[in-house]
Amino acid sequence: MIRGLIFDLDGVLVDTAKYHYLAWKRLCAELGYKFDINDNELLKGVSRIRSFEIILEINNVTKTPEEIEHYCGIKNGYYLEYIRRLTEDDILPGAKEFLEDAKRLGYKLALGSASKNSRLILDRLKIEDMFDAIIDGTKVQSAKPDPEVFLKGAAELGLKPEECIVFEDSAAGITAARNGHMRPVGVSNPEIRDYCDYFIRSFAETTAEVLVKKVTGE
Ligand code: BG6
Ligand code: MG
Repeated sequence: MIRGLIFDLDGVLVDTAKYHYLAWKRLCAELGYKFDINDNELLKGVSRIRSFEIILEINNVTKTPEEIEHYCGIKNGYYLEYIRRLTEDDILPGAKEFLEDAKRLGYKLALGSASKNSRLILDRLKIEDMFDAIIDGTKVQSAKPDPEVFLKGAAELGLKPEECIVFEDSAAGITAARNGHMRPVGVSNPEIRDYCDYFIRSFAETTAEVLVKKVTGE
């Protein structure tokens, strides 16, 4: 029986995925690295450091851990410039209503994001207090597709992994949910449509009640 819903943040509840892309693109342009929208798919859901390591791999370049830290800091500065302008209106269509509906139905809600900026973004969207557990990049060691972030989320909700649905927009996140024995629902990104148990283009097209029934086949 499904008792908990775990939500990724970037690209699921808010369209910050495009700002991550713009910030990496800006850094790559400065460094003279190749980086396009297809390369960006590989970065979705993975940690900041791992993202830059992937960019280095694509470009056949090596950097020291200190240099990686340095460039990740620059990228985060660019990213913060974009997200500083976020307001409550940037929550994706239907997402707030979906969370409210799910809460009303008695589901426990958790955030499961790789982002160290999660608290800042939740604060800007004014939805922080809707979650019973918030697991973000400051609380995990292993990046998705490792299931750590979702397993910690389920544990903090007091639930078994099998009792949780995970909402994700990234391939790494869908794999993480599967690795953690949870039911992955793809959101918004058509690239992951074939890899999840159920796919929605937007939360506006469904309700928590309908979605849980579709996923579990009840
Ligand atoms: C994930 C994003 O949610 O967070 C990734 O999908 C990002 O693209 C990761 O790299 C880490 O985010 P931050 O905000 O800590 O750099
Ligand atoms: Mg995401």
